[in-house]
Amino acid sequence: MRAICRRLDAPDAQDFQALRLEGFRLEPRAFRFAPEDEAHLTSDAVAERLQRDFVIGAFNAEDSQLIGVGGLAWSDGVKTRHKALLYGMYVKVPHRGSGAADDIMKRLIDEAKEKVEIVTLTVVSTNLRALRFYERWGFRAYGVEERSAKIFEGDYLDETLMALRLKS
Ligand SMILES: CC(C)(COP(=O)(O)OP(=O)(O)OC[C@H]1O[C@@H](n2cnc3c(N)ncnc32)[C@H](O)[C@@H]1OP(=O)(O)O)[C@@H](O)C(=O)NCCC(=O)NCCS
Repeated sequence: MRAICRRLDAPDAQDFQALRLEGFRLEPRAFRFAPEDEAHLTSDAVAERLQRDFVIGAFNAEDSQLIGVGGLAWSDGVKTRHKALLYGMYVKVPHRGSGAADDIMKRLIDEAKEKVEIVTLTVVSTNLRALRFYERWGFRAYGVEERSAKIFEGDYLDETLMALRLKS
């Protein structure tokens, strides 16, 4: 059964925060953030983020649990507001390959098409599944930030920089 997607808003803050921290905890090599970076955020701060950004949640059709998220952060600079940053794509393990990630991405791209010309993202270069997923959605790699994140001494993550042009 397909997930049900909708925009997350202030009342979803706690569930969103829990899923985001789960991703940082379970996939330390997929994200540039650690749980400690955001565990301290208050519900009000997370709610504010949900109202400022455009975050889509996918809910399991059977039990209405939040099983996936992905967001767009807008840029408000005069010279950069034609771009948005896609961030925080995460789908719980049992729902990967189910189409839930596609449903989230479709909603994000539809919204981006209304508002911006380019969507950018960063993805850890060894995260081949995510890279493939983004490529399938038309994102193209334009560079690599070497040692973008440091796990501990001598253990770094490189990140591939990707962009999707929505307007020629
Ligand atoms: C990234 C994520 C949201 C994608 O959702 P998903 O449901 O797994 O994505 P899909 O299954 O629709 O697509 C994955 C693609 O990678 C392919 N794939 C799977 N494992 C792979 C591997 N080891 N190497 C290369 N490709 C792989 C799949 O075949 C599929 O490609 P296809 O549609 O051309 O067959 C999900 O995997 C996830 O939450 N990962 C952990 C967190 C994460 O990495 N987030 C991204 C941070 S930038």
